[in-house]
Amino acid sequence: MPVFAVVGAQWGDEGKGKITDLLSEDAAMVIRYQGGTNAGHTVKVGGEIFKLHLIPSGILHPEVTCIMADGTLIDPTELAEEINFLRAKGVDCENLVISGNAHLILPYHRVLDGVTEDASGAASIGTTRRGIGPAYADKLLRIPRSLRAWDLLDRDVLRERVLAQLEVKNKLLTSVYGAEPMDAEAVLAEVEAAAGVVAKYVGDIRPLVRQALATDAFVLLEGAQGTFLDPDYGTYPHVTSSHPVSGGACLGTGIPPSALRRVLLVAKAYTTRVGRGAFPTELHDALGDAIRERGGEYGTTTGRPRRCGWFDAVIVRAAAELNGATEMAITKTDVLDTLDRIRICVGYRLGGEVLDYPPGNLDLLDSVEPVYEEMPGWKQDISGLRSYEDLPANCRAYLERVEELVGVKITLVSVGAERDATIVKSSG
Ligand code: IMP
Repeated sequence: MPVFAVVGAQWGDEGKGKITDLLSEDAAMVIRYQGGTNAGHTVKVGGEIFKLHLIPSGILHPEVTCIMADGTLIDPTELAEEINFLRAKGVDCENLVISGNAHLILPYHRVLDGVTEDASGAASIGTTRRGIGPAYADKLLRIPRSLRAWDLLDRDVLRERVLAQLEVKNKLLTSVYGAEPMDAEAVLAEVEAAAGVVAKYVGDIRPLVRQALATDAFVLLEGAQGTFLDPDYGTYPHVTSSHPVSGGACLGTGIPPSALRRVLLVAKAYTTRVGRGAFPTELHDALGDAIRERGGEYGTTTGRPRRCGWFDAVIVRAAAELNGATEMAITKTDVLDTLDRIRICVGYRLGGEVLDYPPGNLDLLDSVEPVYEEMPGWKQDISGLRSYEDLPANCRAYLERVEELVGVKITLVSVGAERDATIVKSSG
């Protein structure tokens, strides 16, 4: 069985959670490789819907080992809440392992994310304010006593490091941002309480990963966010601070590139984006609003309305190339059910030229004019269909055009939120 990465093709929210959940039924191990509480996926526990930000959705399968790898960020407060919720629902989380090498998001990172965004005004990124940028910055700055999950295991070390960090962060908050300092005892109390819940899950993931690779187990690498939120390959500076691309899956887990056999690119049947940044096919009209309502396009983490627009084959083709996609899943296809005409962006007009790849300098994405192809809609409810052949001809034509433009075979078509609302398309 291969090591299989699931990556987002657009700007996140492609429905990777649902696809990972589906695939994890056959997996021995699901590993999240980057990001932190900025991500969000919905799981159903005992008829109740819960939005998880950190714990992989595979947690509901007790036989699947769920790992938060070295490249992720752990917010102990949030993680403790997720664990407590799941335990209360009878999910013991005994199959969860947090890499001790993962860095921590602490309360001051969240506050710093907020004040930095506020201070940036019109130049703000529109982050999720979950402390992602400040925590990854501390990691890369290698600041003394920066905290990793290992530090949750020793109360004295935890206390000493949190207090040392907070002293510096309070100086930054008060003298640079004119904000109130944070209360050290309150911060410590929050972190210590969370450590009490989380610490038992922290450990060395290497023996588990080594064993899985040695036995050829089916290992799923679960990406968060999407290709164009990658700090190197995305629409910088409107990006996140970790690498959602498949290369990031290797870095974040320590699994060598040569072990990665399959890369499933997950793309929505249209495009959405939350936060600021370029979006060539964005719809600024009633149709954009209608897609948002039909698709329930509101952020899982922040509740913000997502910007909506047509499928952009130019960026998804580039994503296929950057990720080495071996197959593709198209999600939320049913959201387009009611449309008379559907557009696909097949190129960008820029300075008298038509490009079929994004410009090298992605700042120019703000200036491109999309070149569209238009196709007739299928005007039929497809959410109850389970076989590719049963899809209306216009829907199949749309999917096959997407396949052709992106250059990667579609193997899964999602037609609804439920796990079974998924069509497996043969790759022949
Ligand atoms: P951050 O990751 O919170 O720093 O946010 C940076 C950018 O990435 C912002 O535009 C966010 O809206 C976006 N972002 C972060 N996580 C997600 C996600 O899971 N889905 C969609 N957008 C995200």
